[in-house]
Amino acid sequence: MVGILLLLAVLLGLALAFMASSFLFAKKQPKNIPPGSMGWPLLGETLGYLKPHQSNSIGTFLQDHCSRYGKVFKSHLFCCPTIVSCDYELNMFILQNEEKLFQCSYPKAIHGILGQLSLLVVVGDVHKKLRSFAVSFASTCKGRPDYFHNIEKLAILTMEPWKTRKEIIFCHEAKKFTFNLILKQILSMDLDDPLASKILEDFTFFMEGLISLPLNLPGSRYAKALKARERISTTVRSIIEEREKRGADHKKGDFLDVLLSNEGLSYEGKSSILVDLLLGGYETTSILMSMVVYFLGTSPHALDKLKEEHQAIRASKKEKLLNGDDYKKMEFTQNVISEALRCGNVVKFLHRKALQDVNFKGYFIPSGWKVLPVLTAVNLDPSLHSNASEFNPWRWNGQSMTKNMIPFGGGPRLCPGLELAKVETSFFLHHLVLKYRWSAKEIDHPLAHPYVEFKSGLPLEIEPLKMNERRQAL
Ligand code: HEM
Repeated sequence: MVGILLLLAVLLGLALAFMASSFLFAKKQPKNIPPGSMGWPLLGETLGYLKPHQSNSIGTFLQDHCSRYGKVFKSHLFCCPTIVSCDYELNMFILQNEEKLFQCSYPKAIHGILGQLSLLVVVGDVHKKLRSFAVSFASTCKGRPDYFHNIEKLAILTMEPWKTRKEIIFCHEAKKFTFNLILKQILSMDLDDPLASKILEDFTFFMEGLISLPLNLPGSRYAKALKARERISTTVRSIIEEREKRGADHKKGDFLDVLLSNEGLSYEGKSSILVDLLLGGYETTSILMSMVVYFLGTSPHALDKLKEEHQAIRASKKEKLLNGDDYKKMEFTQNVISEALRCGNVVKFLHRKALQDVNFKGYFIPSGWKVLPVLTAVNLDPSLHSNASEFNPWRWNGQSMTKNMIPFGGGPRLCPGLELAKVETSFFLHHLVLKYRWSAKEIDHPLAHPYVEFKSGLPLEIEPLKMNERRQAL
């Protein structure tokens, strides 16, 4: 009898506990949390979310989830309860409310590779301070009288050896160009400097680690990336020390000089800024250039129009090298770049977290949840871009690049290198379309891993244009 009473008491206790927890849970999870599914314990739906897909599509995961739950849904990703936003207005709201309602929050495993002082890791005042250096990098570059000339000369130099080749791996060539340029701008270093090839090699491990499973086991990609990050820091540190030893009489007028003249920044801070700019400065831009070439291959009409624009610019020039006024004339080129950014999706999504409970457009985002603004979904949203899957640079005629897309992020973390990326791509295209004819050697679509890559590096068959075809090209 006592046993039965005890059992009843326990059952009653459990029932009350369940009711109380349901009540609390219901209170914690208001009805207007967006619908969705949380998937497996711990991992949630992360594997499905990260499943590689063609980068000019949103992939099956987002397709399924958006059609089932709408543009904003809940999930469990990167070990956290998450709100995924494929909604343009919500994405803008998230980025513009950085540090107020939301905060940058990349997974801890990535912190190990990027470094604790990386701009993508730091928040608050530390971010503000370090970012001011990245922004000053952009203005220092632009302010140099040889800014445009240096970019163009490097584009010419990169293509020079192509004259005797029938094939190139375009992604490698684009990487060579963008890496060489950022090395020059930041450290006044050439690619044939042994330290430069060491940094480039280490960055390759670094990038592979960023997209690997974060298992710090000997020999794993992640472990190799951590080591590569350490080596890059050591190399950059030795460059800083060497420059400091030489003293003020040996200034080179590059960004390192600007950085070293600032005494309020630690060694670690200086070296982290340099690594951020080196990494940000070459990888994404070379992917954008590859995207442009890939999409032009699908649109001969756009390629013809682009050629026309560059032939006209070349024909109107008295001196040989391009300048800022020529850049301003590259209007269709800007359309092509915007469209390649939209269709190719160089950056698929960003990592944020909610700093407090947020209500927006009827969606409730609980404090502490991860929030992922998906840039790809907005770029390919048919309600914002008609015939969204079609590469159509003309859609940008008279439109600003910020109309209904945010390929460079926004708010206080807007990419500081966006203008440089566009100039580099435009000047490279100028010489490419005026001097070469090319065709894809094999089908090689861009894949989002989510980090974008071309599996075979976009192999191209190339042929120099004859003099009469080139008209007045350099
Ligand atoms: C096509 C080329 C590029 C694309 C698509 C791109 C995209 C982006 C995006 C989306 C962000 C925002 C990240 C976030 O909010 O979480 C960002 C930040 C950043 N980018 Fe770029 N970027 C490009 C080129 C560059 C270049 C050329 C540089 C350097 C010279 C650069 C340096 C940076 C840095 C340092 C940040 C961090 C800014 C901060 O957190 O305050 N990027 N970029």
